[in-house]
Amino acid sequence: MKMCSLIPRKAALCAAVALAGLAPGALSQARAQAQAPTPEMAEMRRGMELMQKQMAVMTPELVEKANALSPQIKQFLMKVALKHPRQSDRLTLRQVMQEILADYQSVAGAIAVDNGELAADAARRIANHRLPRGGMLPYLPLEMVTNQALSVLPAMEEAVEGGARKLAEAAEKGDMVAAAQHFGTVTSGCVACHAHFRGQPGTSPRVRAP
Ligand code: HEC
Repeated sequence: MKMCSLIPRKAALCAAVALAGLAPGALSQARAQAQAPTPEMAEMRRGMELMQKQMAVMTPELVEKANALSPQIKQFLMKVALKHPRQSDRLTLRQVMQEILADYQSVAGAIAVDNGELAADAARRIANHRLPRGGMLPYLPLEMVTNQALSVLPAMEEAVEGGARKLAEAAEKGDMVAAAQHFGTVTSGCVACHAHFRGQPGTSPRVRAP
């Protein structure tokens, strides 16, 4: 990334390319093919632009940690950005999570009263949840922005989003027993991710620790 540091004006773009796990040359290659982009190239460009947008609102401290992540994790984060078209410029992760919780509760109620259509719609909203300003990384403890800590993300995504999609399919077919089982998988994803990444919300410096 030497080239990147020499051209500060392009630093954000370089950072995005770095975050996408690509060599700097890949960008000019992407540009050269811009006239007749294959669908894959167009998708990669879009992914790089989305990562660039996320990096642009991160502090330099976080950008540095994000840049140091492995190509696999960078590509996973880029795929997440590509898969979730609803991306907020304002909302925090906690606010997005409140929305996910509302859909999660809709799913629970709908399964319990055998309303497959509502369960399916709400489950798909969970799978296609909104992304917060700057993506997920800014809201994790800085020391968790490492290859090791983030390596669990694909499994958690599979439990929550994969589980929610399977839940939706089962609910649509009227198989609420299977939907309830997938709901268990979704829940295990919420639980695992919270145990790993989430501290105690709203603690106060003016109360003694329990
Ligand atoms: C990829 C990891 C991840 C997954 C999966 C996840 N969460 Fe979260 N969640 C977090 C983090 C991190 C926070 C803390 C954010 C903060 O405080 O800034 C959080 C916070 C929350 C909050 C805010 C209130 C609180 O007690 O912290 C709610 C509500 C919530 N999550 C619901 C859910 C539900 C429901 C699911 C499953 C459908 C889920 N989350 C799945 C990472 C995750």
